[in-house]
Amino acid sequence: MPSNMLPLPSSTSKRNRTYFPSLPTNHNLSSSQQVLQTLRSRTRLTNLAVFLLLLCLSSSLILNLNYLLLSSSSTFRPSSSTYRTTSSKGWDDLITPSQLRSGIPLSIETTIERDPRYSELNHLIMVPGHAIWLGHDADKVNENDDWILEPMQKGGSVRTYVKHIQRGVEELKRDNNALLIFSGGATRLPPSPPLPEAISYHNLAHALDLLPSTPISPSDGESKAPLSLNLRAATEEYALDSYENLLFSIARFKEVTDRYPERITVVGYGMKERRFTNLHRSALAFPLQNFTYIGINDDLPDLSKHYAGELKFGFKPFLNSPTGCHPPLSTKKLLRNPYIKYHPYHTSNPELLELFEWCPPLQSHRERDSLDEYEGVYGMSFGGWVPWNAGRMEGDEVTWGRERD
Ligand SMILES: *[C@@H]1O[C@H](CO)[C@@H](O)[C@H](O)[C@H]1NC(C)=O
Repeated sequence: MPSNMLPLPSSTSKRNRTYFPSLPTNHNLSSSQQVLQTLRSRTRLTNLAVFLLLLCLSSSLILNLNYLLLSSSSTFRPSSSTYRTTSSKGWDDLITPSQLRSGIPLSIETTIERDPRYSELNHLIMVPGHAIWLGHDADKVNENDDWILEPMQKGGSVRTYVKHIQRGVEELKRDNNALLIFSGGATRLPPSPPLPEAISYHNLAHALDLLPSTPISPSDGESKAPLSLNLRAATEEYALDSYENLLFSIARFKEVTDRYPERITVVGYGMKERRFTNLHRSALAFPLQNFTYIGINDDLPDLSKHYAGELKFGFKPFLNSPTGCHPPLSTKKLLRNPYIKYHPYHTSNPELLELFEWCPPLQSHRERDSLDEYEGVYGMSFGGWVPWNAGRMEGDEVTWGRERD
């Protein structure tokens, strides 16, 4: 045999391998011993091994299928009785029927008591965070030193962040039924502290004395005094990208008010208007007519680079992956969670479990050269049930852009 030829399988099998020492010949075997002996002869043994392997494989397949089927139906649709049936014993003297129905663990739900006026809020004003402010001094909010910034954010962007916060508060003052939510997680690597962008924005708003506790007198038709501004400014501390800014601030609105918003106003970068309006809002199936975007850009003579960057690194990737669950967007999120934070919204918003886990396959679209050319092109919408759009009629919403190319 030439040395470069591999030995043939038959040459291996010809070598006598002994799995068991041969049994002594015995003609007085009981029937069970006979069966055993038959099985133990070499070819039968192989058959037995194959049979056992197949048995293992098929049972594992069945278990897996069972798991998949269960997880796509019942596991992600917890009934409101999830916690009632498993763990309501012992809480009986504390809980209310609505807490029992909430589907939220009673150990958490029984720590929550809301001012009844929160349930009248219906307007979410969201300011997405872009960086972390570590300062204390109101005089220096417009200087880079007190901020944790990416190199490209050092050309005056912090002034824009401060404007976003100020404008968010102005919108809040205009509507006594609004809740202002600063949104953004602890996205920066050490040596940045594990401080969420949202808390730093909230700190900044207080440093500028924008959110006073001054009582507000009721307007016509209101029987009670509205909640003061400081009580209507909350933080959403986990979002890792703009899609999560919108989704998680809706979930946070539910935590604070015990209901979902009917109107949403986002105050952010002008160049991101199309991303929020045509993609994120559409992904969440929130009605277009109840959604407002207020865009404020950096104060620069030429923003064309900003718009080109937004098209390439923001709009197009989110058009192809509405929830950002594929690269490159998923990779960005990996880098933005250096402190290994787990958000609480699966627990507080069990009705949104399917939406949180929604990960449609990558879409492909015809490439266009500027954001303007995507006017009227809407991203894919979540097809499942969402509480803010429960009465949605088929065809109300453009599920796909005009072109599905
Ligand atoms: C949209 O706003 C209108 C008017 O404020 C309101 O009646 C309606 O319920 C809102 N739609 C949703 C889905 O919340």
